[in-house]
Amino acid sequence: MSAMQSSGYQSGFGNEFATEALPGTLPEGQNSPQRVAHGLYAEQLSGTAFTAPRHANRRSWLYRIRPAAVHEPFEPLAHERFHNRFDEAPATPNQLRWDPLPMPAQSADFIDGLVTLAGNGGPAEQAGIGIHLYAANRPMQGRFFYDADGELLIVPQQGRLRIATELGVLDVEPQEIAVIPRGVRFRVDLPDGEARGYVCENFGALLRLPELGPIGSNCLANPRDFLTPCAAYEDVEGDFRLVAKFQGALWQAKIGHSPLDVVGWHGNYVPYKYDLRRFNTIGSISYDHPDPSIFTVLTSPSDTPGTANVDLAIFPPRWLVAQHTFRPPWFHRNVASEFMGLVTGVYDAKAEGFAPGGASLHNCMSGHGPDAATFEKASNADLSKPDVIGGTMAFMFETRRVIRPTRQALESPQLQKKYYACWQGIARHFDPERK
Ligand SMILES: [Fe+2]
Repeated sequence: MSAMQSSGYQSGFGNEFATEALPGTLPEGQNSPQRVAHGLYAEQLSGTAFTAPRHANRRSWLYRIRPAAVHEPFEPLAHERFHNRFDEAPATPNQLRWDPLPMPAQSADFIDGLVTLAGNGGPAEQAGIGIHLYAANRPMQGRFFYDADGELLIVPQQGRLRIATELGVLDVEPQEIAVIPRGVRFRVDLPDGEARGYVCENFGALLRLPELGPIGSNCLANPRDFLTPCAAYEDVEGDFRLVAKFQGALWQAKIGHSPLDVVGWHGNYVPYKYDLRRFNTIGSISYDHPDPSIFTVLTSPSDTPGTANVDLAIFPPRWLVAQHTFRPPWFHRNVASEFMGLVTGVYDAKAEGFAPGGASLHNCMSGHGPDAATFEKASNADLSKPDVIGGTMAFMFETRRVIRPTRQALESPQLQKKYYACWQGIARHFDPERK
């Protein structure tokens, strides 16, 4: 199959885009003309309720060689490791940490390589998230995927991805993220031969930029740094498979053509990518440090104001200058639950054990924070000089609901049995006479 190439990007978060790979494709002044140019079919793809408030309303119009309805019936497709069964093992208050997932021993494409680590809620209730890892060593050959259960926030950790979607091509590399909307069909190719990373499957409200409050009209992730592909299509016929994720399970249908056949489209329900290195990081220039909500890149709100279904927060390179302050993240217990991953470098609250590609989980009210070595170092650091945290990119999926690890996550050889020990060396310093 011919590889679809990127035809460039349009910038801006949630914009009303219009793009065509062939001139004259998009109808003028209407969406559904009696006959579409070039013999194409018009099709609407909606990502929110028709009557969602205007600021939250998302839909796109696709002009394509064949409508999405053209395929044979779906049959169940077994995939033991990729699912939404978040109640099969007891939720645990233990602090958990995993080593990186090894590259697959057998040939595996992006779908084969998905492994569900944890999650909460589910597609039926349209709330919660699935947390998956992927490790793949083969491009998706002759098959295409869409997720009807949620949008996919993909965080590459190793190896680039070429994500050819119905709406165009996203080329993403580690330290970038990609978001594929619910329902959008795509194929993942691996320019580097193999790839590994994290996926947040968001069953709740679509990810959006967080409110900025007193920060003002700029900073954090700036809207124009979000890139959506220009239209690109392939006109290919063959014996292909369309894989759907639907209510937690996979289904597969025969399809005689590539569904990546959208010649032009317009709208605001779109895939996009964002370079995390463009994040404008806010921090203290006096003392203490703010809550990590200042590191929020994207948020999926819940029905409770200020309480997210999921936030994507990052811990990028930054300067620490706070005076008479313990500069690393403090010890804490939160009502929210926190899943963390590391794309590259070293996370500043852990001296060792949290490797790029690894993961940690600290659930609701589970105590955690810097390890013993980090605490001693930071408590005795020279605060007359700034600390520069460089060469790192950690991230967090933070959610209002307890994150329930799957059985395979709890039985995984990558689970670190001694993670709790990183706090066991924390010394007692209490002395009533000491100031
Ligand atoms: Fe935390």
